[in-house]
Amino acid sequence: MSHHDENIKWYEKLSHVIEGKGFTFTVFAFIAVAIGSLIEIVPFFTSDVVDEIELVKPHNAKELAGRDVYQAEGCFYCHTQMIRPFKWETDRFYGSAYSDEYQYSKAGEYVFDHPFLFGSKRTGPDLAHEAAANKSDQWQKDHLINPKKVVQGSVMPAYPHLFNEKNTVDVNQLKANMKGLRMVGVPYSDADIAAADELAGVTKGDALVAYLQKLGRDLKK
Ligand code: HEC
Repeated sequence: MSHHDENIKWYEKLSHVIEGKGFTFTVFAFIAVAIGSLIEIVPFFTSDVVDEIELVKPHNAKELAGRDVYQAEGCFYCHTQMIRPFKWETDRFYGSAYSDEYQYSKAGEYVFDHPFLFGSKRTGPDLAHEAAANKSDQWQKDHLINPKKVVQGSVMPAYPHLFNEKNTVDVNQLKANMKGLRMVGVPYSDADIAAADELAGVTKGDALVAYLQKLGRDLKK
């Protein structure tokens, strides 16, 4: 027993003492976690963590209305909007349509997004740079109405109801959303918001198509 005691290192003794004292141990643990947290958090206050990209513009009223549909229909359950910096992804998601700088998704592409729609499940293809797929509005519409009709064997659900002429954009709701987004920093002018009035009678599907055609468009070569 005494032989064993001699072999115990000083720091093991110290830890035995501290672990025996609940309050002291809690204080030390708190200090250790606080130091780690400060090291993580403080740089965020002192540096500009997101490099804004001049070319990236906020969604206009119609595109934003489409974004609301994208959220309401849960498209993000199957589609991500984040191209990772891997060659097989940049090749697949239209890297050739972008300069070297914008091959994959950058933080600055999302500065106007509230909430982010990164998604996590990649059942369908990534849509961050869907504009570079160069599909026509008609293709996008046909695809949403009946994916199997344009993509053989597609397992994507059909959304024909979005193009029902009675299923239109709620203009008042949209304007309220735009005002809310302005409060959190999206630079919408009064004219941008007033432009929402022109969307009376536009179907949710058409707004969704406008949104899909905006994804990654600003950064295309
Ligand atoms: C159950 C999973 C699922 C859901 C939900 C889903 N998709 Fe898809 N989507 C897919 C799959 C799988 C494909 C690939 C086959 C195809 O192109 O139809 C796809 C393809 C696409 C494409 C074609 C991309 C390209 O360039 O080839 C677009 C655009 C798209 N989806 C948009 C949407 C939108 C908008 C919604 C919501 C209204 C949605 N998807 C909901 C699974 C899904």
